[in-house]
Amino acid sequence: MKSPVKVLFDEHDIILSAIAIAKDAGRLIENNEAAYEILIRELIGFFREYADQYHHYKEEQILFPEMSKKNELLEEGVIQEMFEHHTDFRSMIKSIEIFLNSKDYVQAQLELNNYSEALLDHIAVENDEVFQIAETLFDTDELEKIFFRFEDCDRELGDANKTKLVNQLKEMQASIC
Ligand SMILES: [Fe+2]
Ligand SMILES: [Fe+2]
Repeated sequence: MKSPVKVLFDEHDIILSAIAIAKDAGRLIENNEAAYEILIRELIGFFREYADQYHHYKEEQILFPEMSKKNELLEEGVIQEMFEHHTDFRSMIKSIEIFLNSKDYVQAQLELNNYSEALLDHIAVENDEVFQIAETLFDTDELEKIFFRFEDCDRELGDANKTKLVNQLKEMQASIC
């Protein structure tokens, strides 16, 4: 079966590997500030494009509204909470960038650590709660329709660009080893 929930789980796994890089990045500050700045700018790009544009967009534009249509209590509860987290993530990424622009690498890393922890918690709630609810709310046909809308979404944003972002992550991983 074409499962939209699996698509989101798989994207979470990719995002988790970016979080692991973000947590390790701090050690570059002591021995190579230039490399640190390059890496964090690449990570910011990844979180904005892959995590926000490709992933959060599918949740916000497709999955969450469909779940809300099925259950109003969800809309005012955990779904609203998930939307608020996404908004917080955007402003946290912005402040990491501001610290980076002013060469305040220690503060940039502190904010990046806060972002990483918040995103880890968010992913855990979605994996353990929100996606489990989604699988019980929709029948097979409905899930398949959501899956195809996800595919359309990625196609519009660019499938090749999505693959490129994942490959860039492997290069980033290598740069801190
Ligand atoms: Fe989310
Ligand atoms: Fe998510």
